[in-house]
Amino acid sequence: MPHPENFAKGLSIGIIMDGNGRWAKKQGLPRTAGHKKGAEVFQDITRYCNELGVESVTFYAFSTENWKRPYEEVGAIMRLFGEYLIKAFDYQKENNRVVFLGERSALEPKHQKLMDEIETKTAHNTGMTLNIAVNYGGRQEIVHAAQQLARQVQEGALAPEDITEALMSQHMYTHGQKDPDFILRPSGEKRLSNFMLWQAAYSELVEMDVLWPDFTRNDLDLAIEEFNRRSRRFGGI
Ligand code: FPP
Repeated sequence: MPHPENFAKGLSIGIIMDGNGRWAKKQGLPRTAGHKKGAEVFQDITRYCNELGVESVTFYAFSTENWKRPYEEVGAIMRLFGEYLIKAFDYQKENNRVVFLGERSALEPKHQKLMDEIETKTAHNTGMTLNIAVNYGGRQEIVHAAQQLARQVQEGALAPEDITEALMSQHMYTHGQKDPDFILRPSGEKRLSNFMLWQAAYSELVEMDVLWPDFTRNDLDLAIEEFNRRSRRFGGI
């Protein structure tokens, strides 16, 4: 069904790409095949968000907890991430501003270098903001912000009572960005799994019964329609 022209304009969306492993198992394929297909879907949904006029979209690609997975699987996800960094995106053409969320010092130096370059090159793009969370944890992000502010207090540059919610927000990886309007989790799970804990305070949660590798543009339409039906009160009435 055609949707109204502006139905996704200005939205901020968080996406937990879940279900890659189960998808692969269902097809009798190794888990890494699920991640491969998941990465293709990531790329297509990014393009679609851009076309829809979405303001920012954040993809959860690798969590601080994902290191616990088998060595081969971690290696395969990181290789895919590297591949998509190098060739699959023409960030300039699409006018996206790309930001990486997470602690990147644990990643391969060549990936870190590319991430820095991509962020610098796209910093002044005026289109959608594409956040990619890699070695990201919501708690880790809050600890990181607390450490930065504690350092300023220690140096005498800041008083403890000057630490406000707004100041904390400025020290998150997403500083300057709008909090997500909704967080989408496919694959039927109903957890945040340490994703955008600070930013999700008032986000709507939309969960869907489709595995991420099967996720389509039409599924995103359905998620946005679901969000648009919700009435948000931000603690008011
Ligand atoms: C969750 O599914 C998915 C991941 C932990 C990895 C997501 C990574 C990619 C899609 C590829 C690399 C990223 C980019 C940005 C190119 P799961 O494995 O937990 O699925 P399951 O719950 O069915 O086992």
